Amino acid sequence: MSEKFSALVVDRDGDDTSLGLRRMSMADLPEGAVTVAVEWSSANYKDALAVRWDGKVARNHPLVPGIDLAGTVIDSTDSAAPVGGQVIVHGYDLGVARHGGYAERARVPADWVVPLPDGLTARDAMAIGTAGFTAALSVIRLQDHGIVPDAGPVLVTGATGGVGSVAVDILAGLGYEVVASTGKADAHDLLRGLGASEVIDRLPTEAGRPLESQRWAAAVDSVGGGGLGHVLRTLKYGGVVAASGLTGGIALPATVMPFILRGVTLAGIDSVQLAIGARREVWRRLSGDLRPPHLTEFTNEVALADVPEVLSRLHASGHTGRTVVAIG
Ligand SMILES: NC(=O)c1ccc[n+]([C@@H]2O[C@H](COP(=O)([O-])OP(=O)(O)OC[C@H]3O[C@@H](n4cnc5c(N)ncnc54)[C@H](OP(=O)(O)O)[C@@H]3O)[C@@H](O)[C@H]2O)c1
Repeated sequence: MSEKFSALVVDRDGDDTSLGLRRMSMADLPEGAVTVAVEWSSANYKDALAVRWDGKVARNHPLVPGIDLAGTVIDSTDSAAPVGGQVIVHGYDLGVARHGGYAERARVPADWVVPLPDGLTARDAMAIGTAGFTAALSVIRLQDHGIVPDAGPVLVTGATGGVGSVAVDILAGLGYEVVASTGKADAHDLLRGLGASEVIDRLPTEAGRPLESQRWAAAVDSVGGGGLGHVLRTLKYGGVVAASGLTGGIALPATVMPFILRGVTLAGIDSVQLAIGARREVWRRLSGDLRPPHLTEFTNEVALADVPEVLSRLHASGHTGRTVVAIG
């Protein structure tokens, strides 16, 4: 119990937060059946919100943020997560109301634990992370709605972001025609490298006519706001948009017309409360048919001490792709 380890900790004092490296002891960790030596974590938009006083994400302070972790079990009372096994943990309260992945040790409930599937290393899993997992959930939702590769163009918004870039990669790998929407003029080659067949600017955000020309068989949208309204107005008949995010805002300017005249589906995506059985199955698919083909090529790697700077860039939309954090 006297073992000490390094952790990045956010603390709050009114409208002010501080974020810095500290030494913690095992007694500082919450109760839980499974203790993990964390090897890798990652950086997500939600992590950038969790370290800000106005982010409306962190529910406890002081808090070890980090909504993703992967590592090796070092203590366990659960036979499904034996000592020595490699695991992934993300979602639920991790890194928002319970100490998360930006520390060398974590302790979690047994039913939050995903055994690392064969074919993925712990680093691979964090290169995917919550953002890539959400991209996979979005692709699965399109598949569930019958969107097959020859259905027509699939639009991916926020395409250089974590959710967006992994969605482009997975969809293109499956043979879909991917149109990537980005605000980063210097990222077109990168997106084509991931498999986008066309790269367009960010979508118009102002409200338009109730229906516009039909362009997309489907869309993966992690931006929300006025852009999502534009997606709804431009989906083809029977089209589906998997909506997961809000970087472009939470208001949704839309009418019922796309739903009642074009049979369009607005499919909500939530990775946080997804039941553990379904979560383990999605990870199994991420190690198989949904594995992003360019998983390691477009991943940045940083140390724990670099995380504050990375999260600032993420919050300011000055970040591209996925970033893994080396912990242990
Ligand atoms: N529902 C869930 O379970 C779930 C899970 C994971 C993430 N999310 C949400 O999904 C969103 C993306 O997460 P992430 O980790 O992928 O974030 P990220 O890496 O920061 O990517 C977000 C991307 O959105 C685009 N963007 C940013 N500000 C914008 C604006 N004002 N207007 C239009 N586009 C803008 C940028 O792409 P371009 O520069 O290429 O345009 C940016 O790279 C976040 O809102 C996050 O909270 C939800």
